[in-house]
Amino acid sequence: MPATHWLSKPHWSTDIPLDTPHPRLAALAERGFVRLRDLADPIPDEEFLALEYMDWKSGGDTNFAPVATADGELECRGFWKPGDERPDKGGKITSNGEKCPEIVRYITSVGADFGRVRVIKLEPQDYETARTQIHRDDNNRFNPPGDGWVVRSWLELTDFPDSFMVLMEQGDDGLPDPTTEVHIPLHRGSQFVLDTQRLWHVVCHTGDAPRYALISSFESGPALGTWIDANLP
Ligand SMILES: [Fe+2]
Repeated sequence: MPATHWLSKPHWSTDIPLDTPHPRLAALAERGFVRLRDLADPIPDEEFLALEYMDWKSGGDTNFAPVATADGELECRGFWKPGDERPDKGGKITSNGEKCPEIVRYITSVGADFGRVRVIKLEPQDYETARTQIHRDDNNRFNPPGDGWVVRSWLELTDFPDSFMVLMEQGDDGLPDPTTEVHIPLHRGSQFVLDTQRLWHVVCHTGDAPRYALISSFESGPALGTWIDANLP
């Protein structure tokens, strides 16, 4: 391991819990992610272009269109409202849902309990910039330890086959370990389920226009496991 790292410590992601008793999916045990086969019928452009986007920065220059939130209101924080903290589950469809019936159908067809569901709009960022934005998510805050581990699914809505998700396991130093680096291509219809609390993640987007993707939080359990099995390549 090199003596220096491109991220400096302390990093806020390092303190997010890695080892907990929450039941997890066998499909993610080895690598922390699983790629599914490409979605056969892409989501029409009108669905994600018509949504109401909010200024919310995560992993780069991003905007988010909430499709499901804790209370159905159009906002990005939601599940951690002071005094009304909830795990990232039991999401309610927002007013954006009326504009994207295929997206809502897609989420509900999984059959698992979903929490926040959002379309991300990401401006182009090169590999070096992306690496500075790499992080882990705090998906299981307030999630009772006996409940399924919350993970996230991705569905790429735009076609950028040269852009990619960067994934790394956490090293012993509490920072992403570059020897574990994996890339997932972001062509239209690319689908994967990712434990974003375990893996450090960020997108390198080499395109010349914004990249859009659907990101959904799902509770690990038999329903999500069955859906993954039915959608393996
Ligand atoms: Fe993230």
